[in-house]
Amino acid sequence: VVPSVASSDGFLQCLSAAMPKQLLYTQGSPSFTSVLASSIRNAKFSTPGTVRPLFIVTPTNASHVQAAVVCGRRHDVRVRVRSGGHDYEGLSYRSERREAFAVVDLANLRSVRVDREAATAWVDSGATLGELFYAISQASKQLAFPAGLCPTIGVGGHLSGGGFGMLLRKYGLAADNVLDATLVDANGELVDKQVMGPDVFWAIRGGGGGGSFGIVLSWKVKLVPVPPTVTLFTVLKSADEGAVRMLTRWQQVAPALPEDIFITVRLHKQVARFQSMYLGTCDALLPLMGSRFPELGVNRTHCKEMTWIQSVPYIYLGPTAAVEDILNRTTSSTPFSKATSDYVRQAIAEDVWAEIFARFAKPEDGLMIMDPYGAKMSSLPETATPFPHRGGVLYNIQYMNFWSAATDGSAQTRWLRDMYAFMEPHVSKNPRGAYVNYRDLDLGQNVVVGNVTSYQAGRVWGEKYYGGNFQRLAMTKAIADPTDYFRNEQSIPPFSE
Ligand code: FDA
Repeated sequence: VVPSVASSDGFLQCLSAAMPKQLLYTQGSPSFTSVLASSIRNAKFSTPGTVRPLFIVTPTNASHVQAAVVCGRRHDVRVRVRSGGHDYEGLSYRSERREAFAVVDLANLRSVRVDREAATAWVDSGATLGELFYAISQASKQLAFPAGLCPTIGVGGHLSGGGFGMLLRKYGLAADNVLDATLVDANGELVDKQVMGPDVFWAIRGGGGGGSFGIVLSWKVKLVPVPPTVTLFTVLKSADEGAVRMLTRWQQVAPALPEDIFITVRLHKQVARFQSMYLGTCDALLPLMGSRFPELGVNRTHCKEMTWIQSVPYIYLGPTAAVEDILNRTTSSTPFSKATSDYVRQAIAEDVWAEIFARFAKPEDGLMIMDPYGAKMSSLPETATPFPHRGGVLYNIQYMNFWSAATDGSAQTRWLRDMYAFMEPHVSKNPRGAYVNYRDLDLGQNVVVGNVTSYQAGRVWGEKYYGGNFQRLAMTKAIADPTDYFRNEQSIPPFSE
């Protein structure tokens, strides 16, 4: 629905009375395009065909965010919230269908306050993971936070959808380590954990990936202990070097290892790349690998010892990157991309792995990233947070493909969809699981009936991301945002029995 000129004028007037004009951008503002592009991470959504916002609001304090919600509701302009802009489908700044909306971009709200004694931090949603990790390391070398690998990811979207990286098996998801939060709710009120109540506080820790319950401004997170030395290793195996057999074995070994070790695998161009972080020294790692996974052949020459904070740029930006590089909020390239995900609960047979390998032979073929679960992930019940993929999950698969402006991406997208279809018999079922932070609109999109999102239609994609927790999320939505103001292609629909 495109609102009348009157309602968008009214929205602008209402907001201008509540915040400095220079924090508001209309499509006619000279810097509108550069502000919009500032955190777009998928070039697919910065084309002339992209449905862009009418306005961008860049708040510098909580009252500006509250005003955006109050004015938006009063004048029928919906808001989408953007923290780091990494949403795979760009839902934080673009719409799939023609509609009028404003983006509330939280990039200016990004302070991090670490309490070393309490081992906690308050971090604003607009901070990047790199800024959070850096601030923690400045306060203490013994503390860390379990979250994703890419330093430019926004805290707001990441914690809203779960969030995981190399510390997953020891400490769980980023969302599992949230102690409190401040949220601007559907009435424009600023509430904390106590005022929002247990259901909304449960919902925003993993079920909010899509801004369904409000705009989270700040998160109080629990910091976790790390030893002075962590050890990384990378081992590459081609098909000729036994990669198929090794992957088959990895599925059983990696999810059952002690919690201090995480071995992820990336499959690309018929080479399996095993990359690991161990919370300890090489001396302690080698006997563990020797007894539990000797086939991989890890020896002292593979070990790279460093501090946890040094491991952050090393893993994501490469061996020559400096710790300060994780503070860089811009990235040098923004490719076109498409991704989706799966969960595996039963090890895949070796002959199937051979078939999977064959699907990585052509130049347009993508990549597959597999992250092992188990340990802490299995110890939490499925209902602990909205994220349901806990006990019994061996590993998560992410399928990805990239391309440049030189092609239209159809071959790359077809590869990904064919791969997803091929994998169906080998992955979780009823529902087939998926990870909301690897958002994929092919899994299903909301249908709006009578100006409210349909719960039944939402179950198609919602139960893949949230399993049995989807219904509780929808019931919470019905109480927290009964008019369905915070809405997008995969927002939680309201449901009451
Ligand atoms: P963005 O701002 O686009 O928001 C994502 C969604 O959350 C949107 O629907 C948005 O409206 C909503 N939202 C954002 N801020 C909000 C707020 N303050 N309150 C309420 N809702 C809000 N994941 C992972 O677990 N581990 C990893 O290692 C990686 N690695 C990775 C690398 C790269 C290059 C990309 C592009 C993505 C990942 N991800 C990932 C996925 C990432 O966790 C996911 O895209 C997050 O939602 C991104 O959060 P942003 O704030 O950056 O996104």
